[in-house]
Amino acid sequence: MDIAYGDRIPNNVGLSDNKALQRALEQWQPAFVDWWSEMGPDGSASLDVYLRTAVSVHKGGWAHFDYVKMPEYRWGIFLSPAEPARSINFGAHKGRPAWQTVPGEYRSALRRIIVTQGDTEPASVEQQRHLGRTAPSLYDLRNLYQINVEEGRHLWAMVYLLHAFFGRDGREEAEALLQRRSGDTDNPRILGAFNERTPDWLSFFMFTFFTDRDGKFQLCALAESGFDPLSRTARFMLIEEAHHMFVGESGIGRVIERTAEMMGSEGIDDPVQLRSLGLIDLPTLQRYLNLHYSITLDLFGADQSSNAATFYTAGLKGRYGESKIDDDHELHGAEYPILDVAGGRLVTREVPMLSALNERLRDDFVKDTEAGVARWNKLIARKGARFALNVPHKGFNRSIGALAGVRVDPAGRVVSDSEWEAHVADWLPSQPDREYVASLMGRVAEPGRFANWIAPPGRGIDGKPLDFEYVRFD
Ligand SMILES: [Fe+2]
Ligand SMILES: [Fe+2]
Repeated sequence: MDIAYGDRIPNNVGLSDNKALQRALEQWQPAFVDWWSEMGPDGSASLDVYLRTAVSVHKGGWAHFDYVKMPEYRWGIFLSPAEPARSINFGAHKGRPAWQTVPGEYRSALRRIIVTQGDTEPASVEQQRHLGRTAPSLYDLRNLYQINVEEGRHLWAMVYLLHAFFGRDGREEAEALLQRRSGDTDNPRILGAFNERTPDWLSFFMFTFFTDRDGKFQLCALAESGFDPLSRTARFMLIEEAHHMFVGESGIGRVIERTAEMMGSEGIDDPVQLRSLGLIDLPTLQRYLNLHYSITLDLFGADQSSNAATFYTAGLKGRYGESKIDDDHELHGAEYPILDVAGGRLVTREVPMLSALNERLRDDFVKDTEAGVARWNKLIARKGARFALNVPHKGFNRSIGALAGVRVDPAGRVVSDSEWEAHVADWLPSQPDREYVASLMGRVAEPGRFANWIAPPGRGIDGKPLDFEYVRFD
């Protein structure tokens, strides 16, 4: 289907053929724009930003670059092309044709899945709202805004599903998505990590490395869904998510490059000395890593979950790479190890796999994360610095599941409260760490210039040079 880019709402879902749906979305749109101006990037309305806009889902067509004022960004509704005769790949309905409408018995479960995913999208925009004020370069500022408009588009994607398939309840949920606020005490966002602050660019890069990677794994699980419109929506979102994780991985990589260069070439290892040079020492970076990793692990939910089992058996949410896994895709009788505490130590315990699907997705995420951190360590070694970043134990600093309330150190040892208190400043960012990182933040707005604490990237965006004016201020 062609893109109705001339319509008010760019889409490839044939919106102009469905007047009722088009009207509903056109009514939601002004509320979205109000939300964007109230909670979107601070002080950005008049800026011309060199952004990528999806104008088609076909190869090459989804990445159209041009200067845009963000309130005029064309947030669109795009689904990946339908796979002919697609069938459900797992659960009790395995082998039946994928659903094109919502099966009545799963209506509330499916709505819950879509609302939970949808809620994270505006939440991250809210969390990142003030970062534009302290961007370390125009290149980085543009990448922040790109992520923000795409998270806005992901909200549109979920709202489309709610409006198109869930009637009045869907419309109410779509409104509520614009009413909750990240960190609000009365009406917070649904998931914990999305109510945390993202106060500085080190946190932002960690967030996009870890928390957007949670997004990848959730979307991969939804891409397997037997509800075909959700699957196709998730598949298109994944294309955009890759850029968000790139921003995180390369952002931290550039911080490392700058610091490790000084460590390797000048032999300076002392964090105090590195800080006196205005750099982010690697132990501080490790503490930020520990924090964002552990908060993100909690996003996968309780290690044993009857909801996860229900979503799977119903065919609504699969495993990561479900269609490529070689088993019966029903999981009756299969087991999976989860963590538990026994005799003051962490132990693993086998439980029915159906109930442990959150844990399994978390473990897939852990593997992906470890590969990324290994790439950072290679970079450190290449610069001749002697330091290695570690991915903490899965039980460290957890607030959800069997390990909530259990004090586990980054090496996976259960520790007492007093031991935790004595060492927490070595494990998680301390107030002085946060103050130091905050002291480095300040907007660099001259094309081609980069803040002292971060190296320039290897290349620009869309083949443009590093000194390209990625954001115009007048
Ligand atoms: Fe997203
Ligand atoms: Fe994202």
